[in-house]
Amino acid sequence: MELIGLLGSLRKDSYNQALLNTVADRYKSSFTLSIADISTLPFFNQDEENSPPPVVEAFKQRIAQADGVVIATPEYNWSVPGVLKNALDWMSRGQKVLVGKPVLVVGASTGMMGTLRAQLHLREVLSSPGLSCRMLPPGGNEVLVTFSQDKFENGQLTDAPTLAFLDDVVRKFIALV
Ligand SMILES: Cc1cc2nc3c(=O)[nH]c(=O)nc-3n(C[C@H](O)[C@H](O)[C@H](O)COP(=O)(O)O)c2cc1C
Repeated sequence: MELIGLLGSLRKDSYNQALLNTVADRYKSSFTLSIADISTLPFFNQDEENSPPPVVEAFKQRIAQADGVVIATPEYNWSVPGVLKNALDWMSRGQKVLVGKPVLVVGASTGMMGTLRAQLHLREVLSSPGLSCRMLPPGGNEVLVTFSQDKFENGQLTDAPTLAFLDDVVRKFIALV
């Protein structure tokens, strides 16, 4: 099983990067997870939606060929970071590579809500006709890593209860894929 990871943070010491690293390492016997760099995608331009720049086309083909996608997002001002929304907008037009694709959403923040608002917003965006991916239902499947400054060490999630919850959600996501 080949999964692609999308990361909504460009920060060097990003907790969401560490969360994706944890997913890649912890479940490597079940799937491979390689991160597609969305920071190099130009801003979406509708004039180019049917013949996007090569970097966008290559990105979309990687998504098209993947068995599923894992999105790790921070929360910026109660929503998803612009870099992630930009990647979603490219995927939603021309060849709609996310339609029907299994997508798992996870997120880490330093606050007490653990990206809840961003994830609710992201689920709404991912349900739009141009994206329309397949997700686990939200009840019991929202990986919301709160107070991240206390839950990561050396670039990996180390908080045992959060890891146990992640195990459960990832098991269900593998079944969905
Ligand atoms: C522009 C900006 C807006 C933010 N807005 C929120 C927010 O709405 N809710 C929240 O919980 N944290 C917010 N934060 C704090 C982030 O949760 C925190 O910076 C987190 O570490 C970002 O994820 P990362 O470590 O993967 O970069 C914000 C941070 C920035 C830089």
